[in-house]
Amino acid sequence: MLNETALQEIHNIRSSYPDRESALLPALYIAQREFGWLSSEALLLVAKALNLPEAKVRGTASFYSMFKHKPVGRNLVQICTNISCMIAGSDDLVDLLKSMYGMEPNETTPDGRFSLVIMECIGACGTAPAMLVNTDFHDNLTEQKIGEILEKYA
Ligand code: FES
Repeated sequence: MLNETALQEIHNIRSSYPDRESALLPALYIAQREFGWLSSEALLLVAKALNLPEAKVRGTASFYSMFKHKPVGRNLVQICTNISCMIAGSDDLVDLLKSMYGMEPNETTPDGRFSLVIMECIGACGTAPAMLVNTDFHDNLTEQKIGEILEKYA
């Protein structure tokens, strides 16, 4: 169930656009923020809140990689391994994360602390390698730095 605050946010967003479809992406973000991921129930709630066909909501949500379709850890680590980051050593950083936390890409640590996702370019090629932890951006990563950064996330 979406809480009243979330429903009001969706309603406010809906009223600022000329059509319901335009409010879909922000509404999906709100649902993901509330539930942590977009279950079938969450997609149905968004469809009802916007009075859109469930298939439209499901199709839109499945198109974008920023929407999660299964539960993720408390902290989502998204590391770029595209060309600039790869040249700057991102593959070694992924290996380090695997050994430090015992998780593979698209997996969550047993304690639910981290989920790891490999990303395409996140627009920080000039300061590669780079990653996002939740919505926090980190660049110029090194093996030492990545460990220090992740220590801050419980
Ligand atoms: S290639 Fe990694 S940020 Fe662009």
